[in-house]
Amino acid sequence: MPVFTNAAVLIGLASFGLRCLAAPAMEPRVLSIPSALNPYPTKPRLTFKSDGTFKVTIFSDLHFGENAWDVWGPQQDVNSTRLMNTVLASEKPDFIVLNGDQITGENTFRENSTVYIDEILAPINSANIPFCSTQGNHDNQVNITHTEEIQRELSHTTLSYTRINPAGGKYAPGTYWVPVYAHKNDFQPALIIWAFDSEAGVSEGANSTALPDFVQASVASWIEQETSLMDEYWGPADKTRGALAFVHIPPHAVQAVWETLNSTVNPGLNADSLGVGSTQASGTPANAGKDQPFWDALNANVKNLHAVISGHDHGDEWCAREPTKDVIFCFDKHSGYGGYSSDGWGHGVRNIVFSTPDPSVGPETWIRLEEGETRARITLDKNYQ
Ligand SMILES: *[C@@H]1O[C@H](CO)[C@@H](O)[C@H](O)[C@H]1NC(C)=O
Ligand SMILES: *[C@@H]1O[C@H](CO)[C@@H](O)[C@H](O)[C@H]1NC(C)=O
Ligand SMILES: *[C@@H]1O[C@H](CO)[C@@H](O)[C@H](O)[C@H]1NC(C)=O
Ligand SMILES: *[C@@H]1O[C@H](CO)[C@@H](O)[C@H](O)[C@H]1NC(C)=O
Ligand SMILES: *[C@@H]1O[C@H](CO)[C@@H](O)[C@H](O)[C@H]1NC(C)=O
Repeated sequence: MPVFTNAAVLIGLASFGLRCLAAPAMEPRVLSIPSALNPYPTKPRLTFKSDGTFKVTIFSDLHFGENAWDVWGPQQDVNSTRLMNTVLASEKPDFIVLNGDQITGENTFRENSTVYIDEILAPINSANIPFCSTQGNHDNQVNITHTEEIQRELSHTTLSYTRINPAGGKYAPGTYWVPVYAHKNDFQPALIIWAFDSEAGVSEGANSTALPDFVQASVASWIEQETSLMDEYWGPADKTRGALAFVHIPPHAVQAVWETLNSTVNPGLNADSLGVGSTQASGTPANAGKDQPFWDALNANVKNLHAVISGHDHGDEWCAREPTKDVIFCFDKHSGYGGYSSDGWGHGVRNIVFSTPDPSVGPETWIRLEEGETRARITLDKNYQ
């Protein structure tokens, strides 16, 4: 992909005749494009393919680094690496999302916790596919933090589009968005990939304490701020921009959805009962409902939100419409050989495939197992029940 420079942004903007300050002849025009809307000035712009398609493959709950002192721990990681290589070679996605619990941090050591990030990056670097990540409860432990994982990612590959807290220290680190354009010189993106940090796990260090297990209420105003900036400069999203949202722990609203599943409408493994700790703000009664401001703001402000996608519950891979917001929620597929599992659950990925950048046309999604079997295929559009 060609590098999209700031100069190209200026030319692109000038050609649209927008936001140019009046300037005397012969002087370069100064444009007031907010840098917040050009978050990757030195990276190639992510674009749909020339045939209009865009394929996202999601690896979730890789759980590298379990029991380094036993034979089976490192062997699990060898297996997870094999799965990643197998899937990437045959699926050839345009973009990868790592949707949290990359590392089983409670088993890793201060001196080398993030070395496991390098193991996860190896198949991605060799396939040369851009990606971004969210972090999960197992990525926040005594010897590891979300920030340390992201820093390791950013310093060991140029393919990462993960950002550390673009709002500057106000929210949990993995809270950001990634623009994807239909064509590389377009004025505005056709798809926004949102990443939210559901925190959880425990704080770092000797006097570690439990962290809240939900996206903070303050993120609601960040969503409002970002979407209104996008609307102001790029125009309203309604007919032009679609969205996907990734967050490791499912929003609390998913608990009620689980109680009404129908295997015809909601195909895919449903082997993990949702209970305490399975969804956001469910770990302690004191936190009940605390992800609601996030859930309200996401659904009120992000238009054409094709799906909200989470991991965390390894035995679940279904999608369902969440009725209070009329939005589709999907579980990932447990990808790693680490982390809890059970006979027959298998390991694999979720694919999301767009046939066009047109946000009124929903993408298809399905589960692909390591061995190649696919299942639970649905289209993420208004016809989905
Ligand atoms: C990390 O350090 C531990 C303890 O020294 C060791 O057992 C383990 O193999 C190391 N892991 C890696 C990936 O080097
Ligand atoms: C690694 O994968 C092989 C082949 O699927 C499997 O038989 C074995 O149990 C796995 N080992 C671990 C430790 O996950
Ligand atoms: C954290 O790392 C230290 C130093 O490597 C190790 O002694 C300790 O057991 C680790 N703690 C946890 C909770 O894994
Ligand atoms: C942990 O708490 C103890 C007791 O309050 C204190 O003495 C110690 O300095 C703390 N350690 C760290 C690393 O903050
Ligand atoms: C499940 O959904 C299908 C398709 O809408 C419907 O025909 C069937 O009656 C539903 N099953 C139950 C148990 O509700």
